[in-house]
Amino acid sequence: MTSLDDFTANVASSGLIEPEILARHRAALEGQSLAKPALELANRLIHGGFLTPYQARKLLEGATRGFFLGGYRLLRPLGEGGMGKVYLAQGPALDRVAIKVLPPKKILEEENALVRFYREMDLSRRCLHQNLARTIAVGSEGDVHYMVMEYIAGKSLFDMIKDTRHGPLRVPDAARLFLQLADGLEAAHLAGLVHRDIKPSNIMITQTGDVKLLDMGLARAVDEDAGLTKAGVVLGTLDYASPEQLRDAASADIRSDLYSVGCTLYFALAGQPPFEGGNMINKIFRQRMEDPEPVEKFAKGVPTAFGAIVRKLMNKKPEERYQNCTELKIDLARWLDPARLRASLGADAEAAHAFQPPPPELLDDDIRLHDSVSDPSGSLSLRDLGSPLPSPPPRRREPPPPLPASFRPPPSKSRGASRSISDDSRWLIQFGIVAALVGIVAIVAISLFYHS
Ligand SMILES: Nc1ncnc2c1ncn2[C@@H]1O[C@H](COP(=O)(O)OP(=O)(O)OP(=O)(O)O)[C@@H](O)[C@H]1O
Ligand SMILES: [Mg+2]
Repeated sequence: MTSLDDFTANVASSGLIEPEILARHRAALEGQSLAKPALELANRLIHGGFLTPYQARKLLEGATRGFFLGGYRLLRPLGEGGMGKVYLAQGPALDRVAIKVLPPKKILEEENALVRFYREMDLSRRCLHQNLARTIAVGSEGDVHYMVMEYIAGKSLFDMIKDTRHGPLRVPDAARLFLQLADGLEAAHLAGLVHRDIKPSNIMITQTGDVKLLDMGLARAVDEDAGLTKAGVVLGTLDYASPEQLRDAASADIRSDLYSVGCTLYFALAGQPPFEGGNMINKIFRQRMEDPEPVEKFAKGVPTAFGAIVRKLMNKKPEERYQNCTELKIDLARWLDPARLRASLGADAEAAHAFQPPPPELLDDDIRLHDSVSDPSGSLSLRDLGSPLPSPPPRRREPPPPLPASFRPPPSKSRGASRSISDDSRWLIQFGIVAALVGIVAIVAISLFYHS
């Protein structure tokens, strides 16, 4: 267990907190006999908004460096993929960005790789579109190369489909979201970029239910010579890679992106990629040689005509696919027409209105840890600050589900104009008492009448 002195020294040398603030919070603990004083101080600093739980955990583990990159303050990890870790970070103007940290050497060490990385990132920085996550900057510190991207609050398509509360998309939602994807990708293609790594984890669904494509240009920047089959490339990527890309990565053109869009659409409808399971060799073989099972076999309510879009996207021969996103958009747009939806899907057409974008997630960084704990000096453990394992998923607190449109919250007592359920029961009791009294009076009156 880290001592209070060690923890204080770590915080001081991290540069995360002004010395006076640290000294003030440390002084507040003087004279108290605490079982875990370092944790107590960490908790106070989190409460005060001076540290995030992630930063506190790293400091408790003994880290004093690695909290800043390119002038940004790293707040917490957002995820990790085949090309490195992604962090939520804060800029000088308190702006939030995502920073992708590329592996120090390995890939970028190759001849020309750095030149290519900066060239592709420069292209992607200039390609602005509402459905593409913006590349803000690229840079390096020591041998760490990084790219700064627009931070997208929401969920990746992968996480959304795998989340049991959501599951696979219905046709109308798929048509709307993939139309947005095709729109962003079309802009990138027109700017001379090929994505080369389109897959569900590179597509974010925002809290307003819109698409933002991530990692534009990155695959080509770091992997042109080596190809996708090189060691270290995650298996997941092969689920969405085109046959020609697997043969010769450098030769893949925009139609290769369209193949990957097809695999991604398959996943979004069926909840599984077209060639589920198997090892690397097996996946490569099947992408190149086999036709997948029709998506309609696994997906609920997908008409053959919509399945045909997936098949055309996933044609093994690039010349038989959609040749560009403009062609794809025309076919997808047909599925936004309510009349056509009703004709093809019947009652399922209404599912278009059931789509719930990922709800806003209140993060520990926003709400402070232990807000609900009235006595912060109560017993604390390292678990209170999150798991000490490297880059765990951030602790999240789910907000209550959004209210259905027809629901009206009861008015507060102070305004009290209309009746609540308790008002109703009170009214019923009063009515009962009055009725009983009237009854008794009537009985007494009748008996007096007969006796007289
Ligand atoms: N700009 C961003 N804004 C918000 N979250 C992001 C952003 N970029 C990445 N993420 C999150 O981090 C996760 C991991 O991203 P990352 O790109 O490192 O992995 P990947 O897409 O699985 O693999 P690859 O390295 O092949 O792209 C994403 O799935 C997403 O949840
Ligand atoms: Mg990615």
